[in-house]
Amino acid sequence: MTTFEYQGDELHCEGVSLARIAAEVGTPVYVYSRGELERAYRAFDAALAGVDHQICYSVKANSSLGILSVLARLGAGADIVSGGELYRWQRAGGDPGKVVFSGVGKTEAEMRTALAAKILAFNVESDEELLTLDRVARAEGVRAPVSLRINPDVDAETHPYISTGLAKNKFGISAKSARDSFRRAADLPGIEVVGVDCHIGSQLTKTSPFADAIARLVELILDLDRMGLKIKELDIGGGLGIDYGKDGEAPPPSPGEYGDVVRAALAPILPLGIRLLCEPGRVIVGRAGALLTRVLYRKQNEAKHFTIVDAAFNDLMRPTLYGAYHPMHPVKRGARAAVVTDVVGPICETGDFFARDRELPALDQGDLLAIGAAGAYGFAMASNYNTRPRAAEVLVAGAGYTVIRDRETLEQLLVNERVAG
Ligand code: LLP
Repeated sequence: MTTFEYQGDELHCEGVSLARIAAEVGTPVYVYSRGELERAYRAFDAALAGVDHQICYSVKANSSLGILSVLARLGAGADIVSGGELYRWQRAGGDPGKVVFSGVGKTEAEMRTALAAKILAFNVESDEELLTLDRVARAEGVRAPVSLRINPDVDAETHPYISTGLAKNKFGISAKSARDSFRRAADLPGIEVVGVDCHIGSQLTKTSPFADAIARLVELILDLDRMGLKIKELDIGGGLGIDYGKDGEAPPPSPGEYGDVVRAALAPILPLGIRLLCEPGRVIVGRAGALLTRVLYRKQNEAKHFTIVDAAFNDLMRPTLYGAYHPMHPVKRGARAAVVTDVVGPICETGDFFARDRELPALDQGDLLAIGAAGAYGFAMASNYNTRPRAAEVLVAGAGYTVIRDRETLEQLLVNERVAG
């Protein structure tokens, strides 16, 4: 039994029909397959077999407790970017000792919380951040474990909004001044230098940018070693893409191919006994989730056919924000004519669409549609725009499912607000 498949004419997630979930939980709803989540984690882990490594799942991709708890149980660590994500990770039962803290703008309060939790490493992104962390750690009477995030100036060849490894991006410390930064860091009493880190972008569809970035870091690590600075950990970030099923687009490399490239690139430093950390997000959760929505109305004007569904871009931002393609499948298949349609939501903006000019089997009012490969950066980026309660989330396992998040209520949306006095 695989993730999202038709059984007869009904689309199922594992053994549960999506029509049943829609009837019992309502729409829009995110549906995740626990089997696929576990399979994807294990496949990524297996791809790095033979290399001493720790997967630090990138919490931002999907930070729901029901997802984090499954991954924590499989042995995952976490890549976090806020005190909020650390809080979630711990509430999900995750080990703070396996947490790396990334991000260009950590606050002092977040640093204190992460120090108290005894995280594995701070991925520090600037000299000013380093000096601040040194001061905060000394005030707490501890030393902060630090990896310096290096910007290797490598083109990830992905969407510009999610490309992070070029000199023009805000991330990391320039590879050119990295040696000086390490030297300075090593002299700070509140800092313990443990590693070198990078992350070059997301939804990468080739292995060569990873190979290039790792090669630069390997060179740096060898130099640092010669300077007498022993590096314990190399964090290569996340970024491996997934197949969104767009016609004519080659699927991204598999975790196996990625693992082979990583292994080869690491060869020169293997004798140094360095542990590999990686921060995959999308490749773990992306294909495990679908957004299930119901058709409200159809309409045709002189220019276009529109399918108006009850999910909107507040539920799934990716199509409008990045021009992203998501596969779509009617929950009940059958003999249907094809129609070229714009699948749109109820929000009062032209940017509220999931697909434009997509050829789909014609849907009727009330029909259900599954928007696939939505497990990563789907719910995690949802908002309450237009005072829309955020969707429910369901985790399917075999023939049963758990509601891992109830649909928000209007009462909850307003709980922190008050009318002006
Ligand atoms: N590590 C760091 C430091 C990151 O910034 C990210 C993602 C990851 C790891 C995980 O990358 P992944 O393996 O998921 O590609 N909202 C966008 C993606 C933003 C990615 C931001 N950083 C989207 O929906 O495509």
